[in-house]
Amino acid sequence: MKTKTVHVPLDERSYDVRIGRGLVESAGAQINAFLARPKVWIVTEETVAALHLTTLQDGLEAGGVAHEALILPPGEATKSWPHLQRVVDWLLTEKVERRDIVVAFGGGVIGDLVGFAAAIHRRGIRFVQIPTSLLAQVDSSVGGKTGINAPQGKNLIGAFHQPALVLADIDILGTLEPRDFLAGYGEVSKYGLLGDLDFFEWLEANGPSLAGNAELRQEAVRRSVQMKADIVARDETEQGDRALLNLGHTFCHALEAATGYSDRLLHGEGVAIGCALAFDLSARLGLCSQEDPSRVRAHLRKMGMKCDLVDIEGELPDADGLLALMAQDKKVVAGRLRFILARGLGEAFVTADVPPDTVRALLAEQLAAR
Ligand code: GLY
Repeated sequence: MKTKTVHVPLDERSYDVRIGRGLVESAGAQINAFLARPKVWIVTEETVAALHLTTLQDGLEAGGVAHEALILPPGEATKSWPHLQRVVDWLLTEKVERRDIVVAFGGGVIGDLVGFAAAIHRRGIRFVQIPTSLLAQVDSSVGGKTGINAPQGKNLIGAFHQPALVLADIDILGTLEPRDFLAGYGEVSKYGLLGDLDFFEWLEANGPSLAGNAELRQEAVRRSVQMKADIVARDETEQGDRALLNLGHTFCHALEAATGYSDRLLHGEGVAIGCALAFDLSARLGLCSQEDPSRVRAHLRKMGMKCDLVDIEGELPDADGLLALMAQDKKVVAGRLRFILARGLGEAFVTADVPPDTVRALLAEQLAAR
């Protein structure tokens, strides 16, 4: 399989996302050209380290690149002040210089945390993303959003800091647990739903075969990353269009908060439910046809994914409680929630013009069905 490259054109902050097989094994050769001296600092987490760190270290050595590694605990709790401090302390102790490169080797938690540490260490050093989850390959490793969570909400502290290179190794996705793979698929289907009906139709045809077929996985990642690159190039710091990437996320963030950011609901699962609800809301407001939410659900169900509140186990707050959680959303402007709605499959847009009563009624119906 030939490696495919998506370029993210952002002037002096431009970079490539390479998508293919064996990229971790050839990491030294891939990264060498970016180095001021032949050494990198890897930050990863225990689960990824147990499965893949030796492969990365061997791959770096094969390309003549020395390395040090810091291994953090897995899980969302790592995206926090104490671990940020630990990473920056380590970079300082290791005397990592302004022109050096840090490697973020893991899923979205590691990518966001290490990217933020790279943004603030010595006022900013370069970093390479080697995302190991489908979600990180198609979303969080691309576009330069970095940060940590606050007790008040997710991703509330951070910086825009673009990576120097992203290596999306398709082979590594083969070791993911089916639930994690499907959670990442929530973000993949989001791209079709927000801006590309043709891609959504491709997913309807090929989605069920992705997990077992590396060529199809590569194509799904490439098309997702290309769409993200196009949007980020238009609106790097989310003044407008970039908010489209948050299709499904207003509902998702509230549901993640309601379930305590726990295993009850993975982020990508919340995105899938949120996309289905965003299409429900669009249909209720007369923006898209009544068939569109059914078609979204039919595909998600066929993939074996959650797509309604009934699919979330355990207690949930009532509709007003969920609305209150939505109010922490970063898209709130002057106290008004903004939603990503759709005029049809692949035709999302941003609006603040959503009556809270319509949202409340939709949530109340979903809760009553539980
Ligand atoms: N994950 C949404 C964004 O990068 O803008």
